[in-house]
Amino acid sequence: MADPAKNTPLTAVMTADVTLDVNGAPHTLHLDVRTTLLDALRDHLNLTGTKKGCDLGQCGACTVLVDGRPVVSCLTLAATQQGRAITTIEGLERDGKLHPVQEAFIEHDAFQCGYCTPGQIMAAVGLLNEGVPATDAAIRERMSGNLCRCGAYVNIVEAVKAAAAAQKG
Ligand code: FES
Ligand code: FES
Repeated sequence: MADPAKNTPLTAVMTADVTLDVNGAPHTLHLDVRTTLLDALRDHLNLTGTKKGCDLGQCGACTVLVDGRPVVSCLTLAATQQGRAITTIEGLERDGKLHPVQEAFIEHDAFQCGYCTPGQIMAAVGLLNEGVPATDAAIRERMSGNLCRCGAYVNIVEAVKAAAAAQKG
């Protein structure tokens, strides 16, 4: 169907109520059904710790956990995530104490500008949720979807190793 006055196609925006479980709390949002999880978090819930880098699924800056596993939120539609447990960088601390991976990133100076850091930390937490990697190469491989323009990779691997060692006990 076209607008005869302008001869341009008319598009209807479909919206829906979407309830997201974010950091342990439910939030019902009225969203354009095309809204990404990243935009829902940042623009509708004001959880701006999750960063937008490429918005194309290529940099990992927007990584969050869904049911404990890392996903790139820029390629995930918010409306498809109802009923799942979403964790952002803001949801990692417990009783005012940073998550061990956050502590390890600070201890090992695993960032420079910090823009990629929330995504790196969420990817690392997701990685450790699935078990401790046996080698540095395995850590690098598992973290390879998270780019760091500052080149902090060496210290990021050290931080993940330290957090893994702490998890092992
Ligand atoms: S912003 Fe999502 S992968 Fe780059
Ligand atoms: S610390 Fe700057 S992009 Fe990674």
